[in-house]
Amino acid sequence: MDKTVSELLNNQINKEFYSAYLYLDIANYYDAKGLDGFANWYEIQAKEEQDHAMLFYRYMQNNDEPVKLLSIDQPDNAFSNLLDPLKVSLEHEKYVTALINAIYAAAQKVNDFRTIQFLDWFIKEQGEEEKNASDQITKMELYGGEARSLYMLNSELLTRAYAPPSLVL
Ligand code: FEO
Repeated sequence: MDKTVSELLNNQINKEFYSAYLYLDIANYYDAKGLDGFANWYEIQAKEEQDHAMLFYRYMQNNDEPVKLLSIDQPDNAFSNLLDPLKVSLEHEKYVTALINAIYAAAQKVNDFRTIQFLDWFIKEQGEEEKNASDQITKMELYGGEARSLYMLNSELLTRAYAPPSLVL
């Protein structure tokens, strides 16, 4: 495998684990606020990010590429209101999309079709993740200011159940 592509893929393991850490931090914030539905949604999001990390890890292993586990940054967000974490999430997902796109572009440059095919799932996934994050902001802006509708929004998010990723390696 091309060295740049390999390094970017290895780096992505770390970025996905950081995403899990960030979302667990957000779950922790909402839990402390008594919003168990929001906390549930982000705990599941954190699990999904761990799955993403393991997909990159497994892809590297399957292709005999060296894996180097890097240290995970501490999430440093001090949230000032209930909307803040949702905005942080959307910005973060856009950042992850840019990272995935950069790996895709690097793989394209060296005709690494296997990696391109592997990344196709993530390209689609990022579209969904950005939409989810954006929808959460819209709903919170519309309903979050009123106690009863916030309660209903929280109840809706409590129904989210974890599902393993559809991509299996
Ligand atoms: Fe693994 Fe939310 O991107």
